Amino acid sequence: MSLTEPRSGNSAALPLKITVPILQEKKRNRAPISALTAYDYAMARLVDEASIDLVLVGDSLGMVMLGCDSTLAVTMEEMLLFTRAVRRGVRRALLAADMPYASYHVDAAEGVRNALRFVKEAGAEAVKVEGGRNRVELVERLTDAEIPVIGHIGLTPQSVHRMGGYRVQGKSLYDAEHLVEDAAALEAAGAALLVLEGVPREVAARITAELTIPTIGIGAGPDCDGQILVLHDLLNLAFTPASKFVRRYADAATLVRNAVDEYRKNVETRSFPSDAESYHLTAETRDTFARTAPRPARKA
Ligand code: KIV
Repeated sequence: MSLTEPRSGNSAALPLKITVPILQEKKRNRAPISALTAYDYAMARLVDEASIDLVLVGDSLGMVMLGCDSTLAVTMEEMLLFTRAVRRGVRRALLAADMPYASYHVDAAEGVRNALRFVKEAGAEAVKVEGGRNRVELVERLTDAEIPVIGHIGLTPQSVHRMGGYRVQGKSLYDAEHLVEDAAALEAAGAALLVLEGVPREVAARITAELTIPTIGIGAGPDCDGQILVLHDLLNLAFTPASKFVRRYADAATLVRNAVDEYRKNVETRSFPSDAESYHLTAETRDTFARTAPRPARKA
């Protein structure tokens, strides 16, 4: 690893810093918003340098980075640690952090205190909370505290036990209308953006048309104002069968497996490291060193 690396990639040519008003303007201009999750410095840099508009440190990190079965066990301290790492890699994109389960479920005051930590201690520029009309007070309080809020409705993974699994939401007429009302309530409360996850395309299209704030879809069809995916799904690093809505853009698992396998073989055959990959004494020191008699072995 070199100690100083100039930044490369598209963002060097695009100094524009993405902000909440810019994302809202994109909706007005019908310009699609690109969003991805990231959890560490290296990936955050690559995502940012590819000019993705919104980087979310999702609590999906519990599953893809920590190997948990759900997002429920993720703590504030873990979210802050990963968000700080991503902060160091992101310059252009808007950086949002997911509020983990139980960080805002007791009352709104605790939610505000925890959200402030994301801004002050980790450099987040927005926070995301799951839930609909039951989050109105929280969204209002966060907005009052100058923290942009991203709502998240539909398949909300923190509600896995209530939903009875990770299931598409809003399929009945009643549930679809309920989601439309939730979306309107969050916008009225001050939400800056809204994630729609695991909902029928028709429902996402209606919400997108009715709201003035941008919708970001994941498993919600192509009519949302933007799209987000979990980076590890897109790269085939998630070790789970891909959901219907995931498109795999690369097979990083195969890439890593092959690279590690080749490295192990090279070590075992002593073809790594080569002489060119070794440090050397200067010619003068080497000659003197060669003439130095070996020291007698120390007694134990
Ligand atoms: O945790 C997460 O990564 C998310 C996105 C999938 C929206 O909530």
